[in-house]
Amino acid sequence: MERTHQKEIKERLEGDGMFQVFKKLDWFFKHYWKRYLFAILALIVASAIGLIPPKLAGYTIDQIQFDSMTTQLLTALIIGYLLLIIIHYAISFLWDYTLFSGAVILERWSRSNLMDHFTKMTPTFFGKYRTGDLMARSTNDLKAISLTAGFGVLTLVDSSVFMLMLVAMMGFTISWKLTLAALLPLPIMAVIMNKYGAVIHARFTKAQQAFGEMNNDVLESIRGVRVIRAFVQEKQDLKRFKKMTDDVYVKNMEVAKIDALFEPTMKILVGLSYTIGLGYGAFLVFDNQMTLGDLVTFNVYLGMLIWPMFAVGELINILQRGNASLDRVNETTGYKADVSDPVTPKTVDAVESLVFEGVTFSYPGTETKQLNNLSLNVKRGDTIGIVGKTGAGKTTLFKLLLRQYPGMLGNIKVADVDLEDLSLAQIRSWIGYVPQDQMMFSKSIRENIQFGKSDATDTEIFRVMELAHFLNDMKQLPNGLDTQVGESGVTLSGGQKQRVALARAFIKDPEILILDDSMSAVDGKTEANIIEHLRRERKNKTTFIAAHRMSAVTHADHIIVLDNGEIVEQGSHAELMLTEGWYKQQYVQQQLAKAGVNE
Ligand SMILES: Nc1ncnc2c1ncn2[C@@H]1O[C@H](COP(=O)(O)OP(=O)(O)OP(=O)(O)O)[C@@H](O)[C@H]1O
Ligand SMILES: [Mg+2]
Repeated sequence: MERTHQKEIKERLEGDGMFQVFKKLDWFFKHYWKRYLFAILALIVASAIGLIPPKLAGYTIDQIQFDSMTTQLLTALIIGYLLLIIIHYAISFLWDYTLFSGAVILERWSRSNLMDHFTKMTPTFFGKYRTGDLMARSTNDLKAISLTAGFGVLTLVDSSVFMLMLVAMMGFTISWKLTLAALLPLPIMAVIMNKYGAVIHARFTKAQQAFGEMNNDVLESIRGVRVIRAFVQEKQDLKRFKKMTDDVYVKNMEVAKIDALFEPTMKILVGLSYTIGLGYGAFLVFDNQMTLGDLVTFNVYLGMLIWPMFAVGELINILQRGNASLDRVNETTGYKADVSDPVTPKTVDAVESLVFEGVTFSYPGTETKQLNNLSLNVKRGDTIGIVGKTGAGKTTLFKLLLRQYPGMLGNIKVADVDLEDLSLAQIRSWIGYVPQDQMMFSKSIRENIQFGKSDATDTEIFRVMELAHFLNDMKQLPNGLDTQVGESGVTLSGGQKQRVALARAFIKDPEILILDDSMSAVDGKTEANIIEHLRRERKNKTTFIAAHRMSAVTHADHIIVLDNGEIVEQGSHAELMLTEGWYKQQYVQQQLAKAGVNE
């Protein structure tokens, strides 16, 4: 495992050059080619205009030296110079704006791609990537990528076209001999920079990974703060966290170190260039091979070359980082959803029946069968009770109905059509699901319920709240429906959360309602009330109720008892009470316990 990972990194380093990042982003550049063409042309024009002032300066010096300067000429030169500044200013604004707004667009575009991808993913994906890591990818990494589309393009143009223009001006209009001599340090620089680039890519990848892990830890610590406190684990948690931040620190320092080496190395080579330019240039002037004005112009050009030379380094740096980040993001978006829509989905108008035939299933990566040869016939309007020991497979059955996992054997058929031939959107549009560990969003109660029906009015909301037996609790909430529930609903009690989740499912009035142990945190009387409401409201619609309290299913048309993924008993409450099985045993026990409490 570790080996293949290292090999991967190695291949990435050697296999594709840093310019790959532009190729990998071609979908973006192709879409915005006009914007980039304009930006690059404007940048080139601005650079070209920037080449004129040193020429003017050299020309002026020569005119003075040869005593041919007139007031008229000087005025013309000054006015020309001012005009150039204004034009340069305007054009610079244009390329700067178009180029850097491109980067912002890329970031937004990639982020919505990523979010879109996240929403399509199944539990296996979220089992593989942790939240903090995904967050790092959708923030830090996207930033690094968008940098290539702005600053990266700028440095690319400056370090190629602008550098060539400068060299051409120095060579053609002044002296090739001097130019070549002064640029001797350049190839050395290129070699060194390439070496740095490879190291940066590797170190940056590691630093980003460490950041992702730390992110995840922060998330978990915050989310689990109550558990941490309850178990007096604050010290250990802090210690663990310190280790992570240290790791991030060390890895970023490694990046900083190599970053810091960049500039001094460049400075030495640039200094060398200058020495040659000035020394050899002065000699050529004394030897009458060029004028003093030329020497001044040449050295100003040499000074202007510093930026493009730096730009080479920056370019390598940015592209390596962008490439590393893009690989990370592409790895995420390249993850194929293991459950997807059929190519040509069939449609079903009415969910008249729901049939399970020999359903057998193992979670990916496990050997045992969590469901084994399960068959069940459900007619529209039926209420099905599912009971059984913890770990028996109740939730698993619901997950398969929601098509959260691939690899199921046997069939689930909706009105004689295989579930796999239906679009995920249609399946999910029928289902109202109250998961065992319900999810609250850090919004108001109203918004939490409107997840079930986005245009639900307050009247409708109050109605389902009554069904879910939540109206009494509402009176205690400070702002009624507008009460904010806090992150994951921290301001609500466990039972209140459950009932908000119930209301959310009720408001959808779904064809198939799935209650997975959804009344475990409410007292028996409330449960009885909710069930009474359900029986009235859902006469013609299908309801599944999984529970540990038998009282939640006694009213069901059909009850199945699961054990190790198999149906071991089934029938109505009355039928099951006639057998001496697990169901009767549990029921009697729970009734006795209840009587004991009431006494
Ligand atoms: N994502 C998963 N990957 C691997 N195994 C899993 C996964 N989820 C559940 N299992 C296993 O599948 C079996 C059935 O789990 P399931 O959640 O369906 O039980 P359950 O009947 O709903 O239990 P409970 O009453 O505690 O909710 C258990 O042994 C469990 O450990
Ligand atoms: Mg369960």
